[in-house]
Order: sequence, then C-alpha cells, then structure tokens
Amino acid sequence: MKSFFCALCGLLCCLVLPARAGTLPPREQAIERTLAAMTLPEKVGQMTLLTFNTVAQGTLPFGTKEPHRLDPERLWAAIGEHHVGAIFNTGLHALTLPEWRSVVTGIEAAAARTRLKIPVLYGIDAVHGMSYACGATLFPQQIGLAATWDPGLVGEIARATAYEARAAFIPLVFAPSVDLGRNPVHSRFYETFGEDTLLASRLGAAMVRGFQGNNLANPYRVAATLKHFVGYTMPVTGKDRTPAAVPEVVLQENFIPPFRAGIEAGAAAVMLANCELNGVPVHADRHLITDVLKNSLGFRGVVMSDWGSVYSLSDSHHVARDRREAVKLAVNAGLDLAMVPFDLDFTTLLVDLVKKGEVPMARIDDAVRRVLGLKYDLGLLTGPPPNAGDYPDFGSQRFADLNRRAARASLTLLKNEKSVLPLPKTARVLVTGFGADSMAALNGGWTYTWRGQDTDRYAADKSTILKAIAAKLGPARVEHVAATYDEPADLGREVAAARRADAVVLCLGEEPYAENFGNIDDLSLPESQTALARALAATGKPVILVLTEGRPRIIRPFVDQMAAVLLAYLPGNEGGNAIADVLFGDAGPEGRLPFTYPRGPNGLGTYDHKISEGYAQDPEFPFGAGLSYSRFRYSGLALDKAQVTATDVLTVSVAVRNDGRRPATETVQLYVSDLVASIPPPVKRLRGFRKVALAPGEQARVSFSLPIKDLAFMDRNGTPILEPGEFEVAVGGLHRKFVVR
Ligand code: NOJ
Repeated sequence: MKSFFCALCGLLCCLVLPARAGTLPPREQAIERTLAAMTLPEKVGQMTLLTFNTVAQGTLPFGTKEPHRLDPERLWAAIGEHHVGAIFNTGLHALTLPEWRSVVTGIEAAAARTRLKIPVLYGIDAVHGMSYACGATLFPQQIGLAATWDPGLVGEIARATAYEARAAFIPLVFAPSVDLGRNPVHSRFYETFGEDTLLASRLGAAMVRGFQGNNLANPYRVAATLKHFVGYTMPVTGKDRTPAAVPEVVLQENFIPPFRAGIEAGAAAVMLANCELNGVPVHADRHLITDVLKNSLGFRGVVMSDWGSVYSLSDSHHVARDRREAVKLAVNAGLDLAMVPFDLDFTTLLVDLVKKGEVPMARIDDAVRRVLGLKYDLGLLTGPPPNAGDYPDFGSQRFADLNRRAARASLTLLKNEKSVLPLPKTARVLVTGFGADSMAALNGGWTYTWRGQDTDRYAADKSTILKAIAAKLGPARVEHVAATYDEPADLGREVAAARRADAVVLCLGEEPYAENFGNIDDLSLPESQTALARALAATGKPVILVLTEGRPRIIRPFVDQMAAVLLAYLPGNEGGNAIADVLFGDAGPEGRLPFTYPRGPNGLGTYDHKISEGYAQDPEFPFGAGLSYSRFRYSGLALDKAQVTATDVLTVSVAVRNDGRRPATETVQLYVSDLVASIPPPVKRLRGFRKVALAPGEQARVSFSLPIKDLAFMDRNGTPILEPGEFEVAVGGLHRKFVVR
C-alpha cells in the first residue's frame, strides 16, 4: 500500500485512501483522505458553527459567568459527541489575550481527543479591529475607512487586524462587509463601504488581501468572510433583518460586483444575508447560493449562514414547516456551514435528512470539502500550534499610529465658513454635546461587546475628543459642559460657557448600536441635540459641529447656523486625537463622503440615481464631497481618443493644482455618464479615483486608464452590454465627450 504522511488522520487515511486521491495535489489528497475516513455524523459536525456560550459556563443562551471559562462537559458534548467543527464569538464581554488563548487552546485540546483529531475553526467579528479583545487596536468602522478612498491604507488596517486576531489564536474573521450602504436608515450602514460599487469593490478587495495575504497559513494572516451575500442592506422598512428589495438589474450592476471583487481577491468565506430578498429568504435561495455565488461567481470557499438564519426559515420566514425542513432547504440550497448558533439539533436533524435521502450525500461532501479545505489552507491541520510570543505588536504604538493616520484620513470637512478651521491653538473653546467625552460615541457597535455600550470602561486609557483637545491646548483653555444623547441639555449653562469661549466644538451624533438595536423610525437627530445646536449658535460664537455617527442623521434644522461641519463617522479609539489634530491644524482633513448625505429624513437617494429622479435630488452634501484646508484647481482634462471600441482602453488625464497655502491631499474622482442606453442609465458612475498629495503651488497630472468594456451595464441576467453611442467624462467640474463605436 502507498503510504504517506497525513496530518489529518495519520495511518487511518492510508487505509481508506480512494484510488484517485493519489493523483491529486497535496491539499486535495489530504481532504479526500479525511473525507473518506469520516462517518456521516462527523461530516455533519464539520458543517456546524456554535457560539462560544454553548461551550462555556453559565446559563444559555446569554448568561455567562465571569471570567469566561470553557465548560468541559458542554465542550465535549459539542466537539466529542456531536463532532462540531467550528466555534465563534464572545460572550457578553471582551476577553484578555491570555483568556482568548486559553479558550482557543482548550477547544483545540478537546478536538485533539476526537477520533480524527480535526482542529476546530474559531471565528470572530473583527469588523474594525480585533473587536472583542481587551487592549486591541480599534480602527475606524468601515464607513469611515470608505471615506479615506485609500485601498492601501485599508489593506494595512486589515493586516494589523489579522495580526491582532492571530495574537488571540483566532484564524477566521467575519469581515469585510461588501454589501452596499444605499439605505442610510439601516442600522448596519456603518459596517459598509458606502453607496458606490467601485469604491466598495476596491476597498473590499484590499481588505481581503490585507487579511489574507497570499498564504492563509501565515501566522499573521486570517481568513476573510465577505458579508452578507446579498442585498441585506436594502430593507424596505429600513429595519434590520426585514425583507429587502433590490431590482435584478441593480443587483447585477451594483450589489454583486463588490462580492465578485472580494472573491477574485481570494476571500475564503462568504456569509449569507439573513433576510428575504425579492421575496425569497436568502438562506433558502438555491439559485442565489448555488447558481450565482458558487457557479457563476466561481466561489470555491465556505458559504456560511448568519446567526440562526437556518432556523429562521421556519421560525420567522415560515417557508419551512419546522426546523428539520429548514435545515433541508438551506443545505440543499448550497449552505456549507451553519451558524446554528445555540443547540446541537442541527447536526441531529441533518444526519437524519441524509439517512432518509432528503439531502444528498454529494451535497454534504461538497460542504465538508470546503470546510476542510479552509482548515487546510489556514495551516490548522499541518502547521505548528500558535505561539503567544510571536505577537509583541498587539495593541502597540505602531498600530495606534496607523489608527490615528486612518482616522485623520477619514475625517470629512463638509463646511468651513470663512475658513474658521483650523482653529488657533490659542483659542478658548467650549467642548460639548453628548459625544464630547465618550469613547463609545467614537467607536459605535462591535466594540469590546456586540452593542458597544461598555466602551468607556474598556478604553478608559484612550482619548475622547475632550481629552484630546485638552491635551493639545492645555486644560485651562478648554471648558466642558456634559450633555446626554436625548435628554434636554442645560441650555443656560451651555450658553453661558459658550459666551466665555472663542469657539464651540459641538459633538453630536449617535449612541452605539448593533443590528436591530439600531433600528430607528426617523433619521432626524433627537430634538435635544437640535435645540442645543441652535442655542449655541444663537450666542454668535462660531460653532464647529463634529458628528460621530454611523449613518447620516439629519442636520438640516440647524446646519446653516454652524460655522463648520466635520463628519467623523465612527473613527475608533484614535478618533479623539485625530479630530483634535484636524480642528487645530496639525493635520488637514482628507476624507470624501462615501455616500449621499440626505437633507431630510425622506429625501434619500444616491449620486448614481436615474436621470428621471434628478428633480428629486437635493442632498445636504453630495457623494464625494469633502473640503481641505487648501484649494484645488483642475485644468486640461484630456482624452487620448475621441472614438473608441469595446476593446480599447481610454486614457483620461487632468491637471490638479494646489492653489492654497497649505499642503493638502486631493481625491481626484473620475465619473462617466452613458448618455443613452436601453436600460435607463444613471446620471453618472464613479469609474476611477486617485489621491494626490500636493504642496502649495504644486501641480500634478493625474491619468486614468479606462477599459471601455468596463462601461458595459448589466442586463437582468447579469450579461454585460456595451451599446454604441455618446459618453461623457467628468473630473473636478470639467467635462469631455467621447463616442463608443
Ligand atoms: C450576526 C451578524 O449579522 C453577522 O454580521 C455576524 O458576523 C454574526 N452575527 C456573528 O456574530
């Protein structure tokens, strides 16, 4: 008998090796050998993902004992008896690095006692850094990263996050979100890269590459999960997990491309959208999961469910009579890994379904191959165990510096009347508003805990906006009046303090939330925040509005009275320092809006709206907006051809000059309009962008290569169509036409 080393199951594999396995590459050989050795319950166990609480001490589902410890009996019931192959999440609080390491090591020790010794895959929501580890670096949330328009920076952040996740011995992250942020009411808007397809595609791909590198077994890289496939961010009601509607052509044209880009970048996993899309719950949609995702997009990794979304097919969507039928629907639709998350019924039900011929064994084998493939790629099967000493940079100054750079690059200056900003460091300022002294307001949800409500305790050593300004100006120049999110402010005190100051830094925005806890009926800010803004403005002192928010809350009732508006999104733990840097001129604002900022709660729209919607478009601030402390002048927009064909690449170039007195960074945005098309064309589409740093008086010529085939639009089947006719290029207010023959 041919014999060779197999880290999965040693000698046993050699005995059951299928004849064809010998001709396969080593990865596939290892997978096939293991698969051949597995019993049905062992296979189904590999398709099961349980939340940490199910193997920890405490009362299920959510009660936990402090500190968070594994429960040996529960752990063995899951891993030893039900062969569970994957665990994820934290309990109700963040763990220290030693705690994380002992949790993951303890789980792997249990796996090592099983017959096949297949390691368990641990996953975590590292959506803006290694969110659930004490002392981790918490970067801007994705919506802020989108405002940087900087794929290189986004890649660096993902790489740092991967490092910190691996430091906790965790090899799989549930990020990035590449579903588009085109409905700002949705509570998960801040987890997106905003409304544009190209921006989300480039940044999503950069994040995947940053997480994964080109070798998942590298102890500093992790497997990425694209989520949530697809359309989840477009709930009709705006409420989380409610039915979404996206026209088929829009799905093909706008929503699927960022997933395609993430898959092409090598994303190891995809998480499904936990909603109904266009009338079909995604977890039961065989067409979407198997035909589109696996076959047409060619995704070869692991398709996982979202939290409880298999059972929701019976429990909330009512497309299945019971949970057994729900499991059958989801697995037959193409699901590989079920985030159950609390019980072991999934495995029992699925074993029974296979035994009764209701789920084919071929489907199970496909799923298990994908899960084993991921474990193989991550080096879990063959690599050495992780080593705690390898991660000296966890929570380091190096990562804090990167964090501050990212936060600065995200800050978006939307208004700066009479160049009130930057403020002189000699100014006396009142710093107020509910976000002034809050780390929670800077971070939002998915921060130490799911909803992010305990951030001020975990990040007590970090600088709020108030602390950062006081550190910069000296405490004597800074006065603070505390305000809450939605209770009436002490306007008398506020106004008196404003009168003593040269300027007011007013920090408004949102409290932290995650998922359904962020559901709202109205995008308007609470009345108390509006009243405070108006009262402060009435003093005649310049009011600098700093917004920390995960979605664009309406500021129309008072924005005209604000001297300046700085949108900070959710800038993370270095947000306070970055805001102080920009307010006082130690850094220039660089961010550009990655979405359309609405004027009124019902005035929602995107920049790439249909021409017929034009009359309805009157945003507070348009997509791509953002000022700097300098001025840029565009000239000499040139195309290298006036007529092109589908195989041509058009070169578009333009000169940009810094006409101001400060060095500054401009984001050059290239838009193209298809003037007439058989499916109504959008007014324009972003087709390229480039950041250029220019010294005062400096000019640069920026050029873009535009493959004409990329100007095709999708029909409802996802077939690209390029029609001849006139197109128009627009950059920095300049326009040129060209013709596609
Ligand atoms: C539910 C969320 O929808 C998803 O984004 C997250 O990754 C999982 N829970 C795991 O926490």
